[in-house]
Amino acid sequence: MFTFTKDCLIGVPEIDDEHKRLFELIAEVDTAVKADDNSVTTAMALLNELKQYAVTHFTHEEAYMASIHDPELERQQKEHQAFVDKVNSYRFSDINDETAKELILELLEYLSKWLMGHILGSDILIGQFEPSNKPTIPVFTEKYKTGIAMIDEEHKTLFDIIGKIHKAIDVELVHDKFDLILDILDELKEYTSVHFADEENYMKEIGYDGLVQQQLLHQKFIETLEELNLDEVDENQEAYLYEFLNFLQNWLINHILKVDKLIPVK
Ligand SMILES: [Fe+2]
Ligand SMILES: [Fe+2]
Ligand SMILES: [Fe+2]
Repeated sequence: MFTFTKDCLIGVPEIDDEHKRLFELIAEVDTAVKADDNSVTTAMALLNELKQYAVTHFTHEEAYMASIHDPELERQQKEHQAFVDKVNSYRFSDINDETAKELILELLEYLSKWLMGHILGSDILIGQFEPSNKPTIPVFTEKYKTGIAMIDEEHKTLFDIIGKIHKAIDVELVHDKFDLILDILDELKEYTSVHFADEENYMKEIGYDGLVQQQLLHQKFIETLEELNLDEVDENQEAYLYEFLNFLQNWLINHILKVDKLIPVK
């Protein structure tokens, strides 16, 4: 089970404190459910407290994001909602104590994993994105280098593919422009998977202890890439694409600078 570490700090003290408290609450429920006496009743009460605390926290976080006009607010709201729905999908009535214990432990496992993935993958980006509709083409410069040749090469390729998406969006009067963009996005998805696998293999090879966190982040990013669905967008596909592109490249830049650069050079 995950616990709060300094990697989880996003730099907004109120939010950091609440994240810390959420991990504490998860640990408290875990201890309660494993205790001998009245464990289920106590665990259930704590679980309810945890649920309520999570909802209050999301409200605070979303209000903070709205106050700084963070362009990621909508994506965050969706993620928070998915979490609430998942937690609410668990039913504990009419089951015996043993089954209830097992269910609670299963839910705790999900909660701690979700929380870690969400903080490192989404909350860490709060305040990092310019509220811009049209991002500029990212250029791979010295500051993005990790010093690990294979990783740097692959990151550069990712920048190049993103550059191609920019150019494709910018072309006017090409009637099959969106097909072209979708093709490049597929290329990006495929290459990203290859790159993440290579990077994770390198980390395994050198026995890097940040591997699990990286895997969580990578997996979440792939999931977000998969969510892109132009069919759902009838009007203003261009604005939607820019918004998506903005997310992609900001995520990548932030991930390289804050996470990948910590990987030791062999
Ligand atoms: Fe969040
Ligand atoms: Fe990377
Ligand atoms: Fe990475």
